[in-house]
Amino acid sequence: MTNVNKLEPLRTVLFESEMFEVVSIEWSKTIISEMHSHGWSQCHVLVQSGVFENYLDLGLKTETAIFETGQVISTPVGSQHELRCVSDFGKTLHIYMPRRNQSVGRKNFRPQMPSPLLENLNLGEASTFEQTQKILQLVKNESITTDSVFFMNQLFSGILPQAILAQDIISKTRTTLATLEASPVFSAIEQHVVQSLGQLIGWADCEGVNVPGGSAANFMALHCARQQKCPDFKRTGFDHRKFKIYVSSEAHYSMKKACMVLGFGTDSLVQIAAHENGKINSASLEIQIIEDLKNNFEPLFVCATSGTTVHGAFDSISELSVICNKYDIWLHIDAAWGGPAMFSEQLKEKMKGVHFAKSLTFDAHKLFGANLTCSFFVTSQKNILIEANDVSGADYLFHDKDMDRGKMSWQCGRGADAVVFWTIWKNVGTQGLSDFVSRLLKVRDESVAWIKKQDRLDLIVEPEYLNICVRIKPHSPETLNWSMIAREKLIDDQFAMVNYSKDKNGPFLRLILAHPNLEFKHVKEILSEALSVIGPA
Ligand SMILES: Cc1ncc(COP(=O)(O)O)c(C=O)c1O
Repeated sequence: MTNVNKLEPLRTVLFESEMFEVVSIEWSKTIISEMHSHGWSQCHVLVQSGVFENYLDLGLKTETAIFETGQVISTPVGSQHELRCVSDFGKTLHIYMPRRNQSVGRKNFRPQMPSPLLENLNLGEASTFEQTQKILQLVKNESITTDSVFFMNQLFSGILPQAILAQDIISKTRTTLATLEASPVFSAIEQHVVQSLGQLIGWADCEGVNVPGGSAANFMALHCARQQKCPDFKRTGFDHRKFKIYVSSEAHYSMKKACMVLGFGTDSLVQIAAHENGKINSASLEIQIIEDLKNNFEPLFVCATSGTTVHGAFDSISELSVICNKYDIWLHIDAAWGGPAMFSEQLKEKMKGVHFAKSLTFDAHKLFGANLTCSFFVTSQKNILIEANDVSGADYLFHDKDMDRGKMSWQCGRGADAVVFWTIWKNVGTQGLSDFVSRLLKVRDESVAWIKKQDRLDLIVEPEYLNICVRIKPHSPETLNWSMIAREKLIDDQFAMVNYSKDKNGPFLRLILAHPNLEFKHVKEILSEALSVIGPA
């Protein structure tokens, strides 16, 4: 790259206000802007003269394009770009909304309290549209910067321009997925994403629906399993029969909630101890099923996890499917976090046998960067969604009978969440999603190799996926909490946000690798900082 950073002297600020900035730049062939983002600012560049090459990094993919006089280069929120003049000279006009310094490089992992925003939260008095915009700017600034590569706290990180684009269309069209007549295109898109997920799973035919989160998808799975086993319960409610629902001790807590909400009771949930590596012990599961059958319980449902929340472990679907087949149990796969493995050449094997399952949870708002929430419940059991969810008495609404997707859902009004994942998938392609997983796996491998060389870090388990669990080695019982102390300090210092969990040996840090721009150097920086805030051994 030649003459990087030489752009500054050639920039003339034509207009500047809190929410707006207009800049003119004079270029020559030797100048390249370094790769940069505009944070949350939307930037439009009008080419006034000359020819420019724009290298656009859209998170999951990059694109290069040539722009000539009169054309506008848009760098959407969530992207970064590098611009260079390929003619001898050129001139561009840059419009930023809001001003870049409002958001570029911001890290806010612990908002200041009391927040200047608090006094603006009261409702009642009207404000002007401009005031409202400014308050929303404060809301953004006081929110956790989950778009930072240093945000590794939850099972998502980063903002994708494709997702913002789709969300914009969804907001503007403002319609419901309840009926086909209100959402002919969105209904087709949802159906298309469901079928495409089904194809990946290996189901010739399937059905599915967007639900508000992976937890809700797990609820839906148990709801459908109940419908298949006991179709009358829909009308009569539970009878004397007692059911058992099985998950591993590492499964997400949503299955317990599902038991509670759907009337099974949390006592019906059996948590089978997982192996040290976080995978369910299939042999223990079968022993437990036999025991429960002897005690007159009915084993109804097994939930395998593909990508556990803490360790990122994948239960053996093949082993579980044999057991479920033998005892006529509904096998559900909670692939809320690990579902992207199905897209990945490197990880496909981890979900071997997934087509034997009857249903699957997939969260596009986790690794694949859709807005929260964008979750799918998919099932190979044709018609089960309508059988489980349709009720009489809504003919005033449903005129297209089985074509209305509201009949498959327990919701009435429902947003077009599927459009966000569809847009991402459409833009980067299946290969692009697979490449994204591979890129992060490379970051993981480099990170793990480095961690293993550090005297003061203990890798908790060899990661199967994109969760790195690592403990700052304690020297004594008093230093057992080091990982938690380091985490708090990282957050207080606005350096990084990582999470923690505990095992029998105490707390450890959990780093989630999900940001599209994440590199090994970021992981190294975070862990080095964690060690330094604890101080010398
Ligand atoms: C394995 C697993 N399943 C389900 C969920 C719930 O997903 P959601 O947050 O979309 O409800 C999570 C959330 O972290 C998860 O890790």
